[in-house]
Amino acid sequence: MVLSEAWSDRFEEGLNPFVERFNASIEFDIYLLQEDIDGSIAHARMLGACGVISSEDAARLEVGLETIRTEAASGQFQPGVEDEDIHFAIEHRLIDLLGPLGKKLHTGRSRNDQVGTDMRLWLRRRIDEIDKDLERLQKALLTMSEKHSNTLIPGYTHLQRAQPLCLAHHLLAYVEMLGRDRERLLDVRARVNISPLGSAALAGTSVLIDRRHTAETLGFSRIYANSLDAVSDRDFAIEFMAASSLIMVHLSRLAEEIILWASEEFSFVSLTDRCATGSSLMPQKKNPDVPELVRGKTGRVFGHLQALLTMMKGLPLAYNKDLQEDKEALFDAVNTTKSSLQAMSILIEEGLEFCPDRLTSAVESDFSNATDVADYLVAKGVPFREAYQIVGRVVKTSLAKGILLRDLTLEQWQEIHSAFADDIYQKIAPRHVVAAKVSEGGTGFERVQEQLQYWRKLLGASKE
Ligand code: ARG
Repeated sequence: MVLSEAWSDRFEEGLNPFVERFNASIEFDIYLLQEDIDGSIAHARMLGACGVISSEDAARLEVGLETIRTEAASGQFQPGVEDEDIHFAIEHRLIDLLGPLGKKLHTGRSRNDQVGTDMRLWLRRRIDEIDKDLERLQKALLTMSEKHSNTLIPGYTHLQRAQPLCLAHHLLAYVEMLGRDRERLLDVRARVNISPLGSAALAGTSVLIDRRHTAETLGFSRIYANSLDAVSDRDFAIEFMAASSLIMVHLSRLAEEIILWASEEFSFVSLTDRCATGSSLMPQKKNPDVPELVRGKTGRVFGHLQALLTMMKGLPLAYNKDLQEDKEALFDAVNTTKSSLQAMSILIEEGLEFCPDRLTSAVESDFSNATDVADYLVAKGVPFREAYQIVGRVVKTSLAKGILLRDLTLEQWQEIHSAFADDIYQKIAPRHVVAAKVSEGGTGFERVQEQLQYWRKLLGASKE
């Protein structure tokens, strides 16, 4: 069957070949093959159950559709541009296989509700996969956190040394972000999982169909209440892209940190051979290509979100061909998000090794314990703002002498303020500084243990 046969007899001429290609979506909506077959089987069964076609015909349609699935798996089903899109391609093949019976499948249905159904089924599956990808990365980060529940790392604000942290606490911040990503996806999933099928072209249909029957077969939780909304709504895709843009933001931030940490200047981590690449010119180099690519790919997903918002903003009700543009954007957003999550999981699982010596010497060689000197004075009854000024003088004195706080003699401390006693040395040791952050959600080791336990329980991950 050729394209022109899909149109009614009012057409006398075939399409301009360029227009035919321009109009076609088969090159990319072939992605929806499984879902299109699933949707058609549900539709055929419903037509049978409602007596619109005989149950024998419904069963034969189902066999025909399964045959096409098998043909596709073996590479035998190769639709071309003359089929225009996946919906026509499958219908054409069904008619080839079943003859006139194949022509009954499209009763009470339009490609408009069909494509919306396919997209939702496809995205629902991908959301479930992405949830698993997110969980894998959370587990990898949790395992790394368990390993480093006693390791210290400098904490930064403005990328200036701020206060020392427990490394597990730093890593668990990403586990939290990914946890919110999973919550968001679950929320989006609820609005992906609504059936537009049976809304037909825009107005519903006079054929006595049962929309709830197909919705139930396909596992949708409910049906769209308004047929116009059903065939023209792409909110679900936009919401998904917003959620995946945030996933990419989180991955990109982690990627950026890893890239910094792997630099000679930081040297907090080394990259294993399995996940780093070399330079074609400079033999000494080991490049963090994986996190750089993840960081670089974020723009694609943000761009697809923009593209979809722009595509929608001027559309009158109901279906418009503009909507065909949703597909490549959505497919690429999904693929990019999935592959970035997988790459990042592999990097965390086997691509990074922290350098504890470097981390220890980093936290011991700065003034990131200055706030704790102020807290020390506060504990001795000095008002915080006053203590803050005093510590400013302490830091200034140390800088002038070219030494760290721990190298000041007790006399030097006491010259600045009489409240200083010799317990000050223990109080400003980085390990003590970290341990002292006992507020809920803080970096104190005990608080971090609580967070580790929480995530271990939630993710069902075993303690290393
Ligand atoms: N290929 C089309 C799309 O992706 C399918 C729906 C076409 N409907 C129509 N009335 N032309 O949006």
